[in-house]
Amino acid sequence: MIISNFLNNHNSRWMSIELAANSPTEQNISLMKKTNKIILSTRQLKFISKTIINKEKCKLLVFGVGNDSGYWHKLNRHGVTVFLEDNEKWIEKVKKRHKSIKVYKVDYKTKRKDWKELLDSPDLEKIKLPDKVVNKKWDVILVDAPEGWSDNKPGRMKSIFLSSKLVKISGDVFVHDCNRQVEDIYSNKFLKKRNLKIEIKSFFGNLRHYQINRTLYG
Ligand SMILES: C[S@@+](CC[C@H](N)C(=O)[O-])C[C@H]1O[C@@H](n2cnc3c(N)ncnc32)[C@H](O)[C@@H]1O
Repeated sequence: MIISNFLNNHNSRWMSIELAANSPTEQNISLMKKTNKIILSTRQLKFISKTIINKEKCKLLVFGVGNDSGYWHKLNRHGVTVFLEDNEKWIEKVKKRHKSIKVYKVDYKTKRKDWKELLDSPDLEKIKLPDKVVNKKWDVILVDAPEGWSDNKPGRMKSIFLSSKLVKISGDVFVHDCNRQVEDIYSNKFLKKRNLKIEIKSFFGNLRHYQINRTLYG
């Protein structure tokens, strides 16, 4: 009985991801969100999905793994998808479920409480990233990590800054939780207010879409 419940849950989670990745309609995404307990809203997932699908062989970089990782990996099956994650437990959890996803461990070495000093500090650039991440320009970047919901969490200062360095000109950057101060200030500084296209609100965090139309630097 308990085993069959487990298998049913496991199968429905897996099947709903397959279904949404093959046919990302609102209904399928909503079902996948519910069965997999994904935090991003259905509207947010659908909007990001559309952007990915519209690129030919999309190079997709995602800051953070979670219950949505298998979906991004499957949706972007004709392109390249790479995840960056600081939490070993979440890496193990997601890799157990989706063996073929590519995740690199990163260490931000930051605390959210230091966000003001970091804003204009050369330390913002200090982080070790794999060559396979640095040597590419990415079509779509999703920033939904690291954790930034309290002062003792790492905060998204470096991930937002890095997204501005790694995105292609004409690429798209999505930043979740922009209703929070650090995400708001860092996104507007490094991705530029003029590039902000839309903010999709949700009780669990607002998602901003920045479309990078010309160089952010120089
Ligand atoms: C906000 S979560 C990313 C969630 C995912 N994009 C989603 O919509 O479900 C950001 C970080 O928290 C951890 N995490 C991932 N999924 C989580 C979840 N469902 N609940 C709590 N923490 C999670 C991971 O370390 C991840 O890098």
